[in-house]
Amino acid sequence: MLHLRNLRVTIDDYEIINIDDLALQPGARLGLVGESGSGKTMTAKAIAGLLPNEAKVSGEVNFDGQNLLTLGDRDLAKVRGKRIGFVFQDPARSLNPMMRIGKQVSEAIRIHTNLKGQAVTDKVVDLLRQVQLPEPETLLRRYPHQLSGGQQQRVMIAAAIAADPDLLIADEPTTALDVTVQEEILRLLISLSEQRKMSLLFVSHDLGVVRFVCNQVAVIYGGNIVEAGNIDNIINRPQHRYTAALLAANPGMPKDDNFSAFIGRRLQTITGSVPPVGRFPSGCRFRNRCQHASEKCATTPPITVSASDHRYLCWHPEQGGQS
Ligand SMILES: Nc1ncnc2c1ncn2[C@@H]1O[C@H](COP(=O)(O)OP(=O)(O)OP(=O)(O)O)[C@@H](O)[C@H]1O
Ligand SMILES: [Mg+2]
Repeated sequence: MLHLRNLRVTIDDYEIINIDDLALQPGARLGLVGESGSGKTMTAKAIAGLLPNEAKVSGEVNFDGQNLLTLGDRDLAKVRGKRIGFVFQDPARSLNPMMRIGKQVSEAIRIHTNLKGQAVTDKVVDLLRQVQLPEPETLLRRYPHQLSGGQQQRVMIAAAIAADPDLLIADEPTTALDVTVQEEILRLLISLSEQRKMSLLFVSHDLGVVRFVCNQVAVIYGGNIVEAGNIDNIINRPQHRYTAALLAANPGMPKDDNFSAFIGRRLQTITGSVPPVGRFPSGCRFRNRCQHASEKCATTPPITVSASDHRYLCWHPEQGGQS
C-alpha cells in the first residue's frame, strides 16, 4: 500500500534522505528506527507532504498506486489526514490550547467526512471512547490543559483516526510521556491497528519499543535504510553492523511482560555520534563509527536480500547467516 522508491530529500544541496526501496503492506506495523538525527522525522514528513519549503524532494511515495509527490495541493489534501493520519511526539504542542477537546476532534471529522450536526458530536464521543478516554461526554467540553499528557495524546490519536485512515504515521508518539502511560498508548496503537486493519508507520529511536509494537522494522542511518525486514529475524540475526550496535545498546528486550521495567531502562549509546548533514563519509555512512570497516566500505555497499525479504546494505555483515 505504501512503497517508497528512490526517495531523495535535499536541503541546501545536502542529502538528508536517500531511500532506494521501502514497502509497507496493508495492516502491517513497520517501525522506523535509528538514533537522533538519522532521518526518521524527515522520512515521515516526506510521506506526509509536510517537508519544510526549502527541501527538494524527488522519487516516488506510492500510496495505493498514486505517487503522492506528483499530486497537487488539493489532491494531496484528500489523502493527507483522510487516508493517512498523523500523531506527533508532543501532544501539548499539537493541540490548540484555546479550543475545547470536542471541537478539535470534530474539526477533523468535518474536514474529512460528510457528517453534520449531532452526527458529528456522536462521532466525537465514539472516537473518544475508542481511544479509551473516560466519560467522553464530559471530556469534550474540557480544554487541553485540563487533561494529562497521556489523555492529550489519546485525543490526538482520536483526531488522527477520525476519517478511518488506512495508514497511521506515529512519530515518537510516547517520548513525552511517563513510562506507564507510554505502555498504555503503545497498547492502544496496537489494538487500533488490529481492529481497524490500519497500517502503522511507527517512528522510534528504541528497537525494544519497536519490537513491542511492530512486526516489521526498517533501520535508518544517515538517511539510508541500512537494514529492513521481519522484526524477529532482525533482532535474532542482525546483519548490518549498525543494527547490531543498536541492539547492543538495548540490553534485554522482553517481548511482552514487564514492559514498564524494560521501557524505563537507560539505553547505552553507540560509540561516536551521528554526524551533521553533509558530514557523512562516502560509501557506507556508518563506516567511520564501525569497528569492522575496511577500505571497500568507502564504496557503496551491495544490497543483499534473503528469501524472507530480510535486506541489508553492508560489506561486512555479522556472521550467523541470512535469516
Ligand atoms: N529544516 C531543516 N533544515 C536543514 N536540516 C534539517 C532540517 N530538519 C532536519 N534537518 C536535518 O536532517 C537530519 C535528519 O533529521 P530528522 O529530524 O529526520 O532526524 P530524526 O531521526 O527524526 O531525529 P530525532 O530522533 O532527534 O527526532 C538531521 O541531521 C537534521 O539536522
Ligand atoms: Mg524526529
